[in-house]
Amino acid sequence: MSQYIYSEEDVQKVREASDIVDVISEYINLKRTGANYKALCPFHNEKTPSFIVSPSKQIFNCFGCGEGGDVIGFVMKHLNLNFIEAVELLSERAGIYLEKNTGDYEKTRNKRSKLYELNKDAAKYFYSNLMQNKLALKYLLNRGIDINTVRGFGLGYSKNEWQSLFNYLNNKGYKESDMEEVGLIIKKKSGNGYYDRFRNRIMYPIIDVKGKVIGFGGRVLDDSQPKYLNSPDSAVFSKGNNLYGLNKAKQYTRANSIVLVEGYMDVISLFNHGVKGCAASLGTSFTPEQAKLLKRYSNEYYICYDSDSAGLKAADKVLDILKKMSMKAKVIVLPEDKDPDDFIRENGLEGFHSKMNTGLDYMDFKIYLYKQKYNLSSTEGSINFTKEVSNLLKGIKSSIEVDAYIKKISQETNISEAAIKQEILFNDSGKFNHKTNSKDKYIYGKYRHNNIDRIIPVKHNLQSGHLKAEKSLLKLIILNKDIYILVKDRFKAVNFLDESHKRIASVVYQAYEEGKMVNDDILNHFEGKELEIINSILSVDIPLEGQEKIKAVEDYIKKIEIHKLKIKKSNIKNKIRLLEENNQNNKEENSELRNLRLELSSIDRQLKSHH
Ligand code: UTP
Ligand code: MN
Repeated sequence: MSQYIYSEEDVQKVREASDIVDVISEYINLKRTGANYKALCPFHNEKTPSFIVSPSKQIFNCFGCGEGGDVIGFVMKHLNLNFIEAVELLSERAGIYLEKNTGDYEKTRNKRSKLYELNKDAAKYFYSNLMQNKLALKYLLNRGIDINTVRGFGLGYSKNEWQSLFNYLNNKGYKESDMEEVGLIIKKKSGNGYYDRFRNRIMYPIIDVKGKVIGFGGRVLDDSQPKYLNSPDSAVFSKGNNLYGLNKAKQYTRANSIVLVEGYMDVISLFNHGVKGCAASLGTSFTPEQAKLLKRYSNEYYICYDSDSAGLKAADKVLDILKKMSMKAKVIVLPEDKDPDDFIRENGLEGFHSKMNTGLDYMDFKIYLYKQKYNLSSTEGSINFTKEVSNLLKGIKSSIEVDAYIKKISQETNISEAAIKQEILFNDSGKFNHKTNSKDKYIYGKYRHNNIDRIIPVKHNLQSGHLKAEKSLLKLIILNKDIYILVKDRFKAVNFLDESHKRIASVVYQAYEEGKMVNDDILNHFEGKELEIINSILSVDIPLEGQEKIKAVEDYIKKIEIHKLKIKKSNIKNKIRLLEENNQNNKEENSELRNLRLELSSIDRQLKSHH
């Protein structure tokens, strides 16, 4: 077996992409308590939870048994894997490619710490320049920034010279190649010699959540262009994975909100006026990685971008990303032509707080945008507006919310509430709207074909009993061919409710049918999420013997069957509700409804017989 190792850099990437709360909650049931999560410890027996997971520190700890560590440590311990295996599992989960190295990873690690040091020294140099340059300092003070804020953010100034930083770093013994790598100096076109990238600019060091200087932004002191220069991405800096100011924000936000803004100056100015939890996406578009990072430090977000159309569009994108990740966010819409810095300077902290209080949540902001897009005083505009909003309302789970919005839209457009409701319930071809929102428990079967048997659980609670039953059943089947033979005719692969279990079962069933041995080798058939699942299946502990196993199999099948009936029941109830709402004015009971009610009582009878 070849010996290999992953670079600290790659391992760190995996660690950062694997939020500890997300990962652990795939295995055990976490409950939020204040800034942390807790659970019954999976590593020892206990009745009251002493297992704590900290999203901000990205560690777990059990005060009962003393187990603790980071996300990799958890996976190692929980799935009984070694370090390399745990990293590989998490990398597949996160979709990160790992380079296999043969031993020189120490080198990479040393190199990175060298680059951090280099950046830090550059930041110190810029800071001392600023303190010695009255004009530059005055620029900041004139913009209303206190000297304490200047110090707190480590702001600086790059001299109006071609090689001042270069010479300074040279004297400190840093290598040209390192300075070039982090983008502080640029090779001359002629090929010999270097010059400083940042000259005559206010310098904003970009500091990551661990306090390391990873890059810089530099702003001109006047109206010349380009307004900002930024460090290029390097071995220590990746724009899409960091947020400017988060290092500060995280010290203040514990359970408070974070305000997301566009620019360096917005973060600094808001902070200066008392809004301490701010972060900026560094002038590039906001990424899901940045959302993941944010998620560790707060439960509530405000998006406060510039109020021009580009800013609103960008805010809308951020909102979509946060929504996808179930992060609660509101959009603060500022008056025309104002950015957060302008606004708070004119209106103070109180003014900003009242803007926060009137922030627009997801639907309200979308409605705000569509109102700008369509002319509501024209019929066509009203129709298109209503169609777009209705389309979004299809994704909202709470019927109370939907109802409130229907009223609102009806008032705005003069389109009747009934018509809007109809629009939401039916799509263009007259079929029931297929809800695909991941918050929905089930996808509706097609109403027209009354296809109640198409049961597709979409999102499941990993702890729920039927899933455990499916896992245990699968494990027994994988480990015992006679159990396979016992169940194969009445419990087929497609009878598993969970999609992954279904796929795993079909591989296992097929292997048995082809007369193959089924053992740990089946791991090779799977990758990513599924590999994780099969791993967790194989780690299920079933200490049963002979007859007990057969009895257990019956229990598992029964549990799954009952769950299936419950899903069916809830699907039918949903349909009945929808049909009833649409039939309110129609006194005649339609046959569809009658059939559904019959089916419902038959399911109830079956459920009763199981108890
Ligand atoms: P803004 O133009 O809104 O800058 O760009 P700002 O932060 O409000 O700065 P002031 O108030 O004019 O001093 C927002 C962000 O876009 C990036 C920077 O990160 C900036 O903070 N940007 C902007 C660039 O990277 N390059 C540019 O030339 C302009
Ligand atoms: Mn600005």
